[in-house]
Amino acid sequence: MARIFSGIQPTGIATLGNYLGALRNWVALQDGADECIYCLVDLHAITTFQEPASLREQTYGMAALVLACGIDPERSILFHQSAVSAHARLGWIFNCVARMGWLKRMTQFKDKAGKNQEEVSTGLFMYPNLMAADIHAYHATKVPVGDDQLQHIELANDIGEKFNHDFGVEFFPRIEPLIVKETARVMSLRDGTKKMSKSDPSDQSRINMTDDADTISQKIRKAKTDTEALPDNLAALAQRPEARNLLGIFAAVSGESQEAILARFAGGGFGPFKNALAEALVAHVAPIGARAKEYLADKAELDRILQKGAAKAAAIAQPITAEAERIVGFLPSAG
Ligand code: TYM
Repeated sequence: MARIFSGIQPTGIATLGNYLGALRNWVALQDGADECIYCLVDLHAITTFQEPASLREQTYGMAALVLACGIDPERSILFHQSAVSAHARLGWIFNCVARMGWLKRMTQFKDKAGKNQEEVSTGLFMYPNLMAADIHAYHATKVPVGDDQLQHIELANDIGEKFNHDFGVEFFPRIEPLIVKETARVMSLRDGTKKMSKSDPSDQSRINMTDDADTISQKIRKAKTDTEALPDNLAALAQRPEARNLLGIFAAVSGESQEAILARFAGGGFGPFKNALAEALVAHVAPIGARAKEYLADKAELDRILQKGAAKAAAIAQPITAEAERIVGFLPSAG
């Protein structure tokens, strides 16, 4: 049995990109033989300032949504990161293992900080070290993510290897990313060359997993396309990023192949294609949003689920972290 770990930031509302790139795979993996551990990464969320009341609300919101997608807290461990101190403890050790040059190469930091590098928090810079600790604190070896997280996983492997090498141990195993190829990068509805993101200023650029049927249909109707007719083969979409993205979404939510969908709409404009896509999306996404609302109505139950999850997570992560601390040379602690 292997151990699977993944996380999502409880900021904003999960998008269709989060769902198709990661959350849906989290649910599928629950049915396999591996142990699944899923984390709402609130320590990561505060690398950019969050209003405390809104962070609390959004963490509940993300818990409700993950459950609504089908995570079963009896079969998977679901918890919030700040509830298990092992993450921060191991994260600090990794701050002292990772090299400045490694972090400076992280494209996500460069994208997020932009020209503002002197003003962003030091946490934003060190974020990948904490992400490495999230995974290594469980000796997890498989990590289901979208492809924007690949570089961070490579870094987690570099950190694990350097720790093993520096201390002459074989303690942290190699990590393998699990990526669903077809939906590894769902793109913005306004610009087919940009990733769909919760933090895009335009709400029209994304489908939120809590959008209602009318909103979903309206966003698809307005989604950017081009003026050519739909072709009858995939190769002809190579230079048409918006059309390719919508087709990828259509196939992912309907279960039909991209080829079969194209065969149905080839030669026509985007109108009928978009109507059918909106219908397929509403059928898939709207019930998840409705279930999330039900979970969100009972915060005491969400607290109970997350705290139970945290106790199970801590039982795995604390001994591994304590052993890492012993390897480093720290004296034993009581907790
Ligand atoms: P986050 O919160 O940005 O995203 C959560 C997951 O959704 C995937 N994703 C996408 N997949 C396809 N298309 C998109 N447009 C899209 N947008 C987001 C992400 O790849 C991710 O899998 N650093 C992580 C959270 C994290 C983590 C971890 C993940 C913290 N510790 C340990 C794995 C293991 C993040 O910010 O994800």
